[in-house]
Amino acid sequence: MSLIRLDKFLADAGQGTRSEVKIKLKQCRVRVNDEVVKKPEIKINPDTDKVSIDGKELVFEEFQYYMLNKPAGVVSATKDDRDKTVIELIGEDKRRDLFPVGRLDKDTEGLLIITNDGALANSLLAPGKHVDKCYFARIDGRVTEDTVKSFENGLDIGDEKLTAPATLIIEESGEESLVRIIITEGRYHQVKRMFEAVGMKVTYLKRLSMGSLCLDSSLGIGEYRKLTEHELDLLKKSK
Ligand code: URA
Repeated sequence: MSLIRLDKFLADAGQGTRSEVKIKLKQCRVRVNDEVVKKPEIKINPDTDKVSIDGKELVFEEFQYYMLNKPAGVVSATKDDRDKTVIELIGEDKRRDLFPVGRLDKDTEGLLIITNDGALANSLLAPGKHVDKCYFARIDGRVTEDTVKSFENGLDIGDEKLTAPATLIIEESGEESLVRIIITEGRYHQVKRMFEAVGMKVTYLKRLSMGSLCLDSSLGIGEYRKLTEHELDLLKKSK
């Protein structure tokens, strides 16, 4: 890996903004290879130099990948004047360039990938890629085999094109129905609009998987963790 400035290394490692990092340097809290370093412009090699702050060694990760169980009430954005964002849910030592891969509606829960890897995000979201997304939904209305067929055939949700074939699995059918739905596109409010197109309303929506990557069922609502190497491989294979 090439040499990078110490202040950038520290900021990327989640140690604050460049100016916050400069203060920490002035306070003699940073060591490079066990020597106190105060100059922000010093160049280091993240592969070979050992950098620590307050005695804690920092490991350089060019890219970070988190799985978040998004709660309702937060927006899938990096900044928002009114609402809390999904990035604010990620705690200490986060890189400053994280963003969510795609969007879930404010009231949708479930699997959301948070990363700073723009290339991976672009390839997962590219319109031609058709990565499967599976959702659990509660529906106000009776979902029947006819509904399943309409979803399979594609629906007019007011866009230029019909929706691509979607798989609907009925778990319970009644005045309120419980379903799983697998879509391959990522249109705005897609699942809600598909049910509206057949005269029903989604009252609860949760994303369960994206490609081969499933939401960890032990993550509580609002909790997150780093992806394992295996999960990252699964995600990369989905693109
Ligand atoms: N479809 C929707 O309607 N909302 C979401 O958040 C995701 C898919």
